[in-house]
Amino acid sequence: MPKLKIFFHALMLAASLAGCSEQRVEPSGAPAGGDFVLRSADGPVDTRNLRGKVLLIYFGYTQCPDVCPASLAAGAQALNALSAEERMKVRLIMVSVDPERDTLGRLKEYAAYFHPEMIGTTGTTEEVAAVAKSFGAGYIRQPTRPDGGYAVDHTTRTYVVGPDGRLAASLDLGTPAEKFVVTVRALLK
Ligand code: NI
Repeated sequence: MPKLKIFFHALMLAASLAGCSEQRVEPSGAPAGGDFVLRSADGPVDTRNLRGKVLLIYFGYTQCPDVCPASLAAGAQALNALSAEERMKVRLIMVSVDPERDTLGRLKEYAAYFHPEMIGTTGTTEEVAAVAKSFGAGYIRQPTRPDGGYAVDHTTRTYVVGPDGRLAASLDLGTPAEKFVVTVRALLK
């Protein structure tokens, strides 16, 4: 699985770069997430306005061939497994690591494909980089192919922020939707 190897490499690179500037860090040394403001087609998404809710945050891009759809489908499945009352307290947020191509309109359309309540967000290259870094997420834009396209290798974890605004967990690629549900419910208690 050379692709997974690349993701791992990206993660390691991000980790090795993490030490040289300010960021919220847990006592263990792991990145602790943090509030952010990004844009969506329906207006700004400011996590400070989402206290009391569980946030499922995924860094990906709409032209991702395989990994993003699998991860986002699990998040969407989890939303569907929750009761309507629980779901009101959960937000599934995709942060595009491809701000060059992922317009707000494109992100909205892509998000809706997975779940009507999923939110697609992006920002400037610098804003997206800062948010990813605060969560310890890495991504690397690959060279442009002869056909003009390019891939962006990225961390494949879904970050779970609790109602208190703190990073509570991160779920690996391949985590079943049931585990998402269990994680969300534990935080909503
Ligand atoms: Ni992807």
